[in-house]
Amino acid sequence: MDSRQRQPSSPDSWWKNGIVYQIYPRSFQDSDGDGIGDLRGIRQRLDYLVALGVDAVWISPIYPSPMADFGYDISDYCGIDPRFGTLADFDELVQGAHARGLKVILDFVPNHTSDRHPWFIESSSSRSDPKRDWYLWRDPAPGGGPPNNWLSNFGGPAWTLDPRTGQYYLHSFLREQPDLNWRNPAVRAAMYEALRFWLRRGVDGFRIDVLYHLVKDASFRDNPANPAFVPGGDPSHSLLPLYTADLPEVQEIVREMRGVVDAFSDARGDRVLIGELYLPLARLMAYYGLDSEGVLQGVQLPFNFQLIGAQWQADVIDRLVRDYEAALPPGAAPNWVLGNHDKPRIASRVGPERARLAAMLLLTLRGTPTLYYGDEIGMTDVDIPPDEVQDPFEKNEPGRGLGRDPQRTPMQWSTGPHAGFSHASPWLRLAGDWAALNVERQQSDATSMLALYRRLIALRRAEPALHAGAWEPLDAGADILAYARTVAQRRLVVLLNFADAQRGIDRALLGERADVLASTHERPEGKHAERLVLHPLEGVALAVHGAISMPS
Ligand code: GLC
Ligand code: MG
Repeated sequence: MDSRQRQPSSPDSWWKNGIVYQIYPRSFQDSDGDGIGDLRGIRQRLDYLVALGVDAVWISPIYPSPMADFGYDISDYCGIDPRFGTLADFDELVQGAHARGLKVILDFVPNHTSDRHPWFIESSSSRSDPKRDWYLWRDPAPGGGPPNNWLSNFGGPAWTLDPRTGQYYLHSFLREQPDLNWRNPAVRAAMYEALRFWLRRGVDGFRIDVLYHLVKDASFRDNPANPAFVPGGDPSHSLLPLYTADLPEVQEIVREMRGVVDAFSDARGDRVLIGELYLPLARLMAYYGLDSEGVLQGVQLPFNFQLIGAQWQADVIDRLVRDYEAALPPGAAPNWVLGNHDKPRIASRVGPERARLAAMLLLTLRGTPTLYYGDEIGMTDVDIPPDEVQDPFEKNEPGRGLGRDPQRTPMQWSTGPHAGFSHASPWLRLAGDWAALNVERQQSDATSMLALYRRLIALRRAEPALHAGAWEPLDAGADILAYARTVAQRRLVVLLNFADAQRGIDRALLGERADVLASTHERPEGKHAERLVLHPLEGVALAVHGAISMPS
């Protein structure tokens, strides 16, 4: 399809104005008592998501998998793993979601398959197999050993020798996750067909796993040493991924994927692509795919993970938001992420009080917010004893704090057995605080994190200034992150006090009259704010009337 004939995405596209909620399916809700969350479980909880106010769910992989990397090792792109249910369960889930106005986004894992995928079994059967070139096979180095110095993101070399055919295959992650050869057109065609399989079943988009890794150097040159590497850190960071990540050829694939999903846009709306991209700002922006005619042909939402690694200080975050806004190509939709299944939870990174401030930040910035399940009730990372470790990353690199089990524990629904997650003992232990910290308790407590999330989400939905308005940075003094969100005559001012002490706010920022719309604290909402003094670690959103614009 000619890009200029494409329907431009409307300004009110659901993925621009809405909120995405990530479900880690193993840990959300178990319906059949095997201790593992499943699709019927998710379906049972759809009304919770509607009440929370989110617009779309992204579900981490649910395809058939040996579960070496808990579903990120796929052995069939067009099926459902029996642990999660059946295709019929999936169809019912999509129907149930759509009936409630919720979109469904699947996880697409194109960089690698499982080593049990029939493609890899064929590919490894002989050097002359027709599927040999679907993966990346190389002879040993001249003196023996791996073909080059490339490292697996999960520790150790990125190459494993297949003794039967005497060649090494490449795996950017586990040896059970061989990398596909995206230079091979047959691989591309097969993978695009997998996308169409789910699009035909009604899915509203895909989150694309490690999108930037898809293409590797054609001559397999060694990666250079990383001069900034700190010994003791994640060993895969000892080299710069110059020849293994973010190669120019990836952009062509992104455009092709975009073409595949755009062909399915219909009256229900666009189908969205979200890219998992851990890249420096300028390179991240490349994935919007701005072409010479000003058309954005890349993924609609290249995940912006900057808040995940940021130092939790007003000036640091202020700088980062400004730089991000300034770097966006014309017409590009911003987005913000606070947490995911690979990173420590926000409540553990910054503490429970500051996590309330983080919620207000996420839900008042300009751009699509993505919430990680459980963050809306303030779930924290859970210490997993060594003999209960599940994550292969932790097993490969024990004791370095790289494991991801702590942020993947079962959702804490109620004070009932196993926190209402399952009738049986869950696959991964529950947090120790589940009996006190759960949805049931927080639902009836107006001061809870859940109540705060619901208020902020409702406000974001109700206020076009928040979900579709402009953003303008403000200067409200040290330790205060301040910005305005405006649409037409409506002006909202957000003030986030990162200090552990009170902070007074200059009247000039508040116009002639300012009404408090939301606070992270116990502050009567809707009341006229005469002299505004913020509590320690308080965030407020105000509607400002008769304001003079005060860009800093
Ligand atoms: C992505 C996923 C992560 C997975 C890895 C390999 O980073 O988010 O969970 O282990 O890719 O597929
Ligand atoms: Mg189950």
